[in-house]
Amino acid sequence: MEIGAIIYAFVLAILFFSGAHAATFTFTNNCPYTVWPGLLSGSGSAPPASTGFELASKATSTQNIPAPWSGRFWARTGCSNASGKFTCATADCGSGQITCNGAGAIPPASLVEFTLAANAGQDFYDVSLVDGFNLPLSITPQGGAGGCPSSSCPGNVNSVCPPELAVKGPDGGVIACKSACLALNQPQYCCTGAYGTPQTCPPTNYSKIFKGQCPQAYSYAYDDKSSTFTCTGGANYLITFCP
Ligand SMILES: *[C@@H]1O[C@H](CO)[C@@H](O)[C@H](O)[C@H]1NC(C)=O
Ligand SMILES: *[C@@H]1O[C@H](CO)[C@@H](O)[C@H](O)[C@H]1NC(C)=O
Repeated sequence: MEIGAIIYAFVLAILFFSGAHAATFTFTNNCPYTVWPGLLSGSGSAPPASTGFELASKATSTQNIPAPWSGRFWARTGCSNASGKFTCATADCGSGQITCNGAGAIPPASLVEFTLAANAGQDFYDVSLVDGFNLPLSITPQGGAGGCPSSSCPGNVNSVCPPELAVKGPDGGVIACKSACLALNQPQYCCTGAYGTPQTCPPTNYSKIFKGQCPQAYSYAYDDKSSTFTCTGGANYLITFCP
């Protein structure tokens, strides 16, 4: 083989064995207001190229994330830099900046969670309201194989949030809804202690409020069966805020 062909074969081998597939995430803001997506890698995954950005109403932004990767996305609302420090009314990451720089969402926050497989293997994804709710969102796979269902949380939990879970904005409207675990901190809501297994932690009157608005989303810690979705074949993903 000539040297060029050897180098070419070597590069292909590296790409193959390192699973150098990247998923393209397209973020679309269908809300009538600006949102500020936040991105956080799980432990062991490289940080995304951007850990936070502004997304105007009706705007779209894309980001490529090399697989394997795990992490989560959310959207901050009601953000302002008026004090000279960037802060948000909901799902703030506390960085004081538009980028979150490795910080996660302060609950309550609606989350989308991903585990991307190397080599176009099986990806897992879900919408989670385990950390509460701040706005509706959805995941729509693009391409891929093996089912690849959308998972959407289209309902507005804020509109049915009981007062003991509600977070109110300056004008008194409900801007986010805490999980019962966060607001009430009791084992039956947090699935801890005697409630620490899937068998002993059934849905509660509070988790059912979240499930009623968003049947495809995790409504509490052990809500697995109806809430995790898979897709193989190296799909790309559309994340829509206010689907
Ligand atoms: C926020 O204000 C500070 C101080 O004026 C400035 O340094 C920073 O760049 C601003 N950040 C944004 C996101 O506008
Ligand atoms: C949920 O159940 C608890 C315990 O029975 C009760 O105290 C609470 O008022 C109920 N809340 C709602 C919103 O149904």
